[in-house]
Amino acid sequence: MPNKKTIAVFGATGAQGGGLAHAILNDQNSEFTVRAITRDANSDKAKQLAQKGADVITADIDDPNALKKALDGAYGAYFVTFFWAHMSPEKEMAEAKAMAQAAKEAGLKHVIWSTLEDTREYIPLNDDRMPTLMEKYKVPHFDAKGESNKFFTEAGVPTTFLLTSFYYDNFIYFGMGPKKGEDGKLTITLPMGDRKLAMIAAEDIGKCAYGIFKRGEELIGKTVGIAGDHLSGNEVAKALTAAIGQEIGYNKISPAIFRSFGFPGADDLGNMFQFNHDFADDFNGKRDIAFSKALNPEIRSFSRWLEEYGNQISVG
Ligand SMILES: NC(=O)c1ccc[n+]([C@@H]2O[C@H](COP(=O)([O-])OP(=O)(O)OC[C@H]3O[C@@H](n4cnc5c(N)ncnc54)[C@H](OP(=O)(O)O)[C@@H]3O)[C@@H](O)[C@H]2O)c1
Repeated sequence: MPNKKTIAVFGATGAQGGGLAHAILNDQNSEFTVRAITRDANSDKAKQLAQKGADVITADIDDPNALKKALDGAYGAYFVTFFWAHMSPEKEMAEAKAMAQAAKEAGLKHVIWSTLEDTREYIPLNDDRMPTLMEKYKVPHFDAKGESNKFFTEAGVPTTFLLTSFYYDNFIYFGMGPKKGEDGKLTITLPMGDRKLAMIAAEDIGKCAYGIFKRGEELIGKTVGIAGDHLSGNEVAKALTAAIGQEIGYNKISPAIFRSFGFPGADDLGNMFQFNHDFADDFNGKRDIAFSKALNPEIRSFSRWLEEYGNQISVG
């Protein structure tokens, strides 16, 4: 479709990018068309995108030539990095830098960079309320994204900085679902005290991104925070109880206990929740639900999302 503007969508077979790619492809009247970036054009998800009309391109974000080709002639790009695939903040920053430089060279008109706060602007490294990790970070998977904002700004890339939120999907895929304790009771474990946490369906991040592209220049150079809900641990447990039909409690633990769980990334996530807790007003205030709904009128509350996905949450 020669008249449509091409958006190169990274992570198009995944959660955030998939939300954006399908939002565009599902909209018959869209002014945009999708170039879906994947490492495997033969996967079921890549084939599904192709069937719906996406131009599927094979590229690894660590290959500069492939990155260049992926952006060639495009109007815009959705850039997301994949921290949990390697857990290296340095690698994540190198990827973001390469994306920003490639976007500059391709002359893209609008980029969305999926980012998070650099928590060191809130908690300096010498603040010992939480441990410093890997010598240079407080919350590595946040800090690397936040520090990477500068690559887009310094290169003069027309960018919207998208502050994402904790996925509801973590209760399905990220080991955060209800677990049975020694007393036989089901609980979810979050070190959030009684503070609320901004959350969102991962797919809705992509749908909000579509809303941002549709607004065009209005949101270039701006930071946009998005969330579908702001919920306390008790509220999460209540919604899960209603959706799953079994009593689920809230196991309120300290961030230090969470850090001590020992699975890869437990210290990073323990620090993240402590940051979410200690700066809840700021964090949630930046992620306005009404504005997110204006970008994506179909955005779901946690309870609404559970109506569709509650049966995928494994219990026990
Ligand atoms: N979990 C949360 O609550 C949360 C909240 C906010 C932000 N985040 C951030 O979200 C990011 C991950 O995004 P996501 O959840 O949308 O990812 P995802 O669902 O894991 O999808 C990633 C997709 O990207 C592709 N991919 C992976 N490595 C690639 C590479 N080297 N080159 C090209 N494509 C690659 C994969 O597709 P192919 O296999 O088809 O190539 C995969 O389908 C992380 O950085 C994380 O920190 C997570």
